[in-house]
Amino acid sequence: MVALQNLILLGLPATIAGAAIEARAPGAPFALYAYGTGIGGAPVFTSGSKAYIGNATLLQDTEAAPVEFTATSTEELVGSPNTTSNEPTPTWSNLTLLVPETTSDSHEVGFTNSTPGSGMSANGFTFYGEVLLHKGNDGKLKSLWYAVPLDQDGIWSLEWNSTGDDTTGQIPLTLSATAPAHGNGKSQTE
Ligand SMILES: *[C@@H]1O[C@H](CO)[C@@H](O)[C@H](O)[C@H]1NC(C)=O
Ligand SMILES: *[C@@H]1O[C@H](CO)[C@@H](O)[C@H](O)[C@H]1NC(C)=O
Ligand SMILES: *[C@@H]1O[C@H](CO)[C@@H](O)[C@H](O)[C@H]1NC(C)=O
Ligand SMILES: *[C@@H]1O[C@H](CO)[C@@H](O)[C@H](O)[C@H]1NC(C)=O
Repeated sequence: MVALQNLILLGLPATIAGAAIEARAPGAPFALYAYGTGIGGAPVFTSGSKAYIGNATLLQDTEAAPVEFTATSTEELVGSPNTTSNEPTPTWSNLTLLVPETTSDSHEVGFTNSTPGSGMSANGFTFYGEVLLHKGNDGKLKSLWYAVPLDQDGIWSLEWNSTGDDTTGQIPLTLSATAPAHGNGKSQTE
């Protein structure tokens, strides 16, 4: 168990086969926060399809909003906009989080309101404590999240499995349901 935490803190892709996983998702709706070098708890957001992290306002899209997730009994994560802010309410809701299957060479993390496309996985999302892992179709739990910087500072594209991705500036991430300690969001880009 300690070994897993160390792997994640080092930002290394963690494969946890046979470890004692406490598979209990948060009961109430929760946000997901990304942690990595220079990223101190940037919330996951979307405008309805691609997943991003950071300050949703900076995408300059009225559909962009932080996601509030609910875990289903089939280990899916269903997301809707967190509309406690006074910004325009996006038209999307009830979207399922997707990561590429182990057999896919895609890196894109996204959301869908229908059946996942070929090569994309919508289930197997498992919490180790507050940390989000994904069980691939090879049966192994992994944390392969990473960020790719966008032209706009303060937001990043959220990606999965950097193997074969040669974009520059990749930042390995841990995703957690735990909000940053200084929870006003100001610390999210340090
Ligand atoms: C929704 O956003 C508010 C304001 O940023 C935040 O305090 C709250 O924790 C969020 N709720 C969820 C379920 O993400
Ligand atoms: C979201 O999905 C849940 C469960 O399927 C359903 O009860 C709810 O009405 C849906 N909400 C919207 C806005 O579609
Ligand atoms: C990561 O991507 C590589 C190259 O596409 C693929 O061979 C491998 O199975 C993927 N691993 C996982 C865990 O998705
Ligand atoms: C997000 O960006 C907007 C526009 O720059 C800014 O007004 C707001 O304070 C930022 N929010 C956070 C939580 O940093």
